[in-house]
Amino acid sequence: MLSKLRTAQVGRSLLVLEVCSSTNDVAAKKAEDGSPNGFVVVANEQTSGRGRNSRRWLSPKGGIWMTVLIRPPVGRETLSGLTQLGALSIVRILTQDLGISASVRWPNDIVTRRGKLAGVLAEARTAGDEVLFALLGLGINANFHSAKLGELNCPVSTLLEELGSPINRATLIASILTELEHLLNQMQAQRTDQVLHLLRESSTPVGRRVLVELEGRQRIEGTINGYDTLTRIRVLSSDGTIAKIEAGSVISIAYPD
Ligand code: BTN
Repeated sequence: MLSKLRTAQVGRSLLVLEVCSSTNDVAAKKAEDGSPNGFVVVANEQTSGRGRNSRRWLSPKGGIWMTVLIRPPVGRETLSGLTQLGALSIVRILTQDLGISASVRWPNDIVTRRGKLAGVLAEARTAGDEVLFALLGLGINANFHSAKLGELNCPVSTLLEELGSPINRATLIASILTELEHLLNQMQAQRTDQVLHLLRESSTPVGRRVLVELEGRQRIEGTINGYDTLTRIRVLSSDGTIAKIEAGSVISIAYPD
């Protein structure tokens, strides 16, 4: 299926499904059964897609719903930054290959002027302190109209609406997986600064207003002041204080303007 795949590991072992519950669930089962690092499951439709914070993720036919299995050894920064690495790989390919002006809306969304186009959900299976494996779920609204998603409380977009015609899913999947492996290799080779530079370039710019709700119902309102690491941003409040926000403690984040 993915003749354009240019990777050593990611997607080399591949399961393509017409429909499944959630590719993250299928990948977890395959991981338990011994599938290798870089194993990928792709579905055309999901019946129980999951989003961040246990939200439902509607996944009609024609989308790109896929999960990449990441097995140790993998560095701590890579593991904790998987969501951002996934989001960055999608944005870079949409921009470079399809000419879509998309950006990472930290910590896990991919948006265009029209609305949310894609999202990322990383999950880990652990035993005590040890990470047994991680699952990087990538969901892209591709070859369908956003009307298929019904009434949602935020604007959404699809590749069909961005481009006016359907894309070749296999080609796009191969390019994203190739980019993802490149970013993972950069991280493993300690070139974190280069990856962070790409994230800054591809994300909502500094100065944009944000409203963040953190665990414990704490709310922070201000403007983005910078991206410190893949998983930490700084927000400048109107009283001049700077809050350092970790992706793991974000319940929700809104970009009102
Ligand atoms: C979000 O924005 O809340 C994250 C959405 C992640 C959706 C993808 S689709 C493939 C994988 N399988 C799932 O059930 N969820 C992720």
